[in-house]
Amino acid sequence: MAVFLDNAATTFPKPESVYRAMEHAFREIGVGPGRGGYGRGLAATRLVFEARESLADFFGIGDSSRLIFTHSATEALNLAVAGLLREGDHVVSTTMEHNSLVRPLHLAGQRGVEVTWVKGNDRGFVEPHRIAAALRPTTRLVALAHCSNVTGTIQPVGEIATLAKQAGALFLVDAAQSAGVIPIDAAALQIDLLAAPGHKGLFGPPGSGFLSIAEGVELMPLFVGGTGGYSTGLDQPKALPERFESGTLNTPAIAGLKAGVEFIRETGIDAIRKHERALVAQLREGLGEIPGVVLFGPASPEAHCGPLSFTVAGYDAAQIAFLLDRDHEICVRAGLHCAPLVHRTIGTYPAGTVRVSPGYFNTAGDIESLLQALRTIVAPAGRG
Ligand code: ALA
Repeated sequence: MAVFLDNAATTFPKPESVYRAMEHAFREIGVGPGRGGYGRGLAATRLVFEARESLADFFGIGDSSRLIFTHSATEALNLAVAGLLREGDHVVSTTMEHNSLVRPLHLAGQRGVEVTWVKGNDRGFVEPHRIAAALRPTTRLVALAHCSNVTGTIQPVGEIATLAKQAGALFLVDAAQSAGVIPIDAAALQIDLLAAPGHKGLFGPPGSGFLSIAEGVELMPLFVGGTGGYSTGLDQPKALPERFESGTLNTPAIAGLKAGVEFIRETGIDAIRKHERALVAQLREGLGEIPGVVLFGPASPEAHCGPLSFTVAGYDAAQIAFLLDRDHEICVRAGLHCAPLVHRTIGTYPAGTVRVSPGYFNTAGDIESLLQALRTIVAPAGRG
């Protein structure tokens, strides 16, 4: 039986309730929200409204109309960056970012926005004093990931938010690896822009995600078009969420996302985090005992979310991942993980690392299978 340990890419499997909710939305409701006034249309509208309310409540967002459904965290980050920044603005970000934030910022840089990239340390931590040193009177935005998709490092977002606010900057958090695993209260953490995918820790399907936009923050939409209502004017409506949600929403995906959040509420996010922490601790301990293994990221499971990277002396990362899959049916991801700046920061560019990322549905037995397989690969009988 295959073992899936690539939950940082997407969680698999999903809770049964997610599959059922999606089938219900697609088969039984079947139509888009906010369009037809017939029963099915109203059912779709209600479902999307309830999903929006549920997510807003889960993330401490007071006004659910300020939670915008997107098709991914990447789209959410593009909306935040391109929608906010103008020529002459200054942004502080970090070398611990995924390309979903790096590339929109790089593009903004080509359009007259200045970006300062604060370097993470050798464990992947962004030290708040380095953020403080990078801030300027013109800094419009501080933007970073809550948790690294390569090293698993959890960043001190509370401290960094305070620094951003003191400097008069807005604060953007990419919660791709933390949403659904680490509690996030956007209001309490002073997060102005919160981006998350639906298909990772929130257990929704691909094609779902969101951006929350705090009161008073004005963005330009990435694209414009039909919004169901407000059809008289040629200008895009100002009202949220319609301003940012042109085109028919993906109701089945949103239904799945809603069910995913309900599963987390029922299970308890603390129980999910505790389970993940235990698996990461088991992994670090077991990997540390295998000759030639070099571990990256924080030593303490408290400072570590799911993704864990390592290399093995004398082996290519891709070769390890290939052998794990071919000979042991274990799925992990090797390479640069769409995060070349992170690999430059920890010294693993361009070869990359092997990344193992346990999720809620993994067991201690899965981790032991991985460790056993690695022992076989690294020290096969008769070798050395
Ligand atoms: N961002 C996802 C990963 O890190 C796809 O694998």
